[in-house]
Amino acid sequence: MNLYKYVSESINDKLGFTANLETPRNRAFGDFSTNAAMVMAKSAGKNPRELANEILPKLRELDFVADASVAGPGFINIKLRDDFIWRTASEPHNATTATPKKIDLDYGGYNVGKALHIGHLRTSIVGDTFNRIARFLGHTTKSYNHIGDWGRPMGLIIAWILEYGMPKNADELNKIYPASTARAHDDETWLNRAKEITAELQSGNPQYRQIYDDFMKISLAQMDEVLHRLNLLPFDATMGERGVAPYVADTQKILESRNLLVESDGALVVNVRTDDDTAPMPPLMFRTSSDAQTYAAADLSAIYYRTKTDNPDIIGYFTDSRQNLHFQQVFRVAKMAGLTTAELFHTGFGALTGPDGKPFKTRDGGVAELLDILDMVRDAVHTRVTAAGKQLNAETINNIALAAVKFNDLLHDVRSDYVFDPTQITSFEGRTGPYILYTAVRLNSVLKRAGDQSDASASDLTDDERNLLIETLDFERTVQSAFDNRATDMIANYAYDLCQLANTFYHNCPILRDDVDAPTRAKRLGITRIARDTLAAAIDLMGLKIPDEM
Ligand code: ARG
Repeated sequence: MNLYKYVSESINDKLGFTANLETPRNRAFGDFSTNAAMVMAKSAGKNPRELANEILPKLRELDFVADASVAGPGFINIKLRDDFIWRTASEPHNATTATPKKIDLDYGGYNVGKALHIGHLRTSIVGDTFNRIARFLGHTTKSYNHIGDWGRPMGLIIAWILEYGMPKNADELNKIYPASTARAHDDETWLNRAKEITAELQSGNPQYRQIYDDFMKISLAQMDEVLHRLNLLPFDATMGERGVAPYVADTQKILESRNLLVESDGALVVNVRTDDDTAPMPPLMFRTSSDAQTYAAADLSAIYYRTKTDNPDIIGYFTDSRQNLHFQQVFRVAKMAGLTTAELFHTGFGALTGPDGKPFKTRDGGVAELLDILDMVRDAVHTRVTAAGKQLNAETINNIALAAVKFNDLLHDVRSDYVFDPTQITSFEGRTGPYILYTAVRLNSVLKRAGDQSDASASDLTDDERNLLIETLDFERTVQSAFDNRATDMIANYAYDLCQLANTFYHNCPILRDDVDAPTRAKRLGITRIARDTLAAAIDLMGLKIPDEM
């Protein structure tokens, strides 16, 4: 149950009035507090405290209220009934929305012929978690990996392969683009050749197409490896710049029919600046002077295609924040041209930095590749576990490393930069993925050791017990807010708070110890199960895997 929503709506129904419900940090005086009397007092022309006292008996009639009292200038504190907490917390979570939407999600966006780098980490992790959240709420999503597979880099790579032969593996392949780019920098003939090849590839040259298809296989296999290691949901469509190429002509026609395309130095652009713009807003480039499909044309054609085939209510994009301007331009043109009626949103991420605040680099100063980063974190986990004298199998180490990377990524507000520190994120204490997994493993192990001792029915709850159960009743609200605010960090922070309460409960409330009587033990096992199920659901939304032991 979404406890907050239930309590809030029940109070408003009872009083025929919309008031604010607060959840005080300190629950000593109540689990919730409402300003209803203070708001009503204004229109009623009464003293708020007096009015609050008049309202109390009404509130006490509600099925969840154990006690209600007046505080301060007229706040009303409400204490929940233990049997109500128990009953609702025992029900399985159900956060299915009453208004399911069709949502196209665009994340990943890997590039063919280039290694995935640190910049692809957040789009993958946050995009995947957002997808899981949307599905959990009952929305229908379609995830697109809008790959970079059709631009000038393809010409540069093909030119190189024509001269030096086909690469045997991803490592060899990923070296070609930087090498060929460097050469094009000093050698204009080489650059022009790459441009020509790009144009001919795009118009169907069979020899170039064959080479392209061959190295494409290597890149797609590498993307699969990353998906697997990051435990991402499979993409519903790997359809990027090449996939939308057949729709560029239709899209262009629509732009033309609206008189949006303007010639500028041989290129075709759309002016998107409005008088309200205070920041620079350059025109969107639809076609270059050498007649090549642009990055923006691909995104507009993708909107056209997705609208035609999926007819989504929402299209959401997850990339780094350097693309903010690009998406502003694309969204403006999409709306000006009436390409879609869908709500369009773009979440632009901050960067992962080293301790110096500069973009995270490998030890030799290069751009950190994604797979290397995962290896680095796995090694850090291994070192830590060995130092602690533990023996864990490779799968467990991998699961801990996965949690370290993903949880840390989800924890931060997506728009801000964060420091990426392999040592810190692999700690078993603090706001870390390993701490989350450790708590889950601990709850699982209690339940395993207890065997099939049956759970309790309602009885009185201690503070630690009720605090933990009340937190589990905030899960559905958290998922809903994370979706509404596109704030996946809410799930990570929620998981941490839940773990804190679960560990406090674990320390203060013995369960399997000999001196614990049977009803208390049964009750606490019930609470352990509820906390575990809720934590497991949160962990699942983050795409982490709980090991058997830690
Ligand atoms: N391939 C691009 C890059 O690596 C990201 C693509 C993002 N998605 C999009 N629809 N433009 O920078």
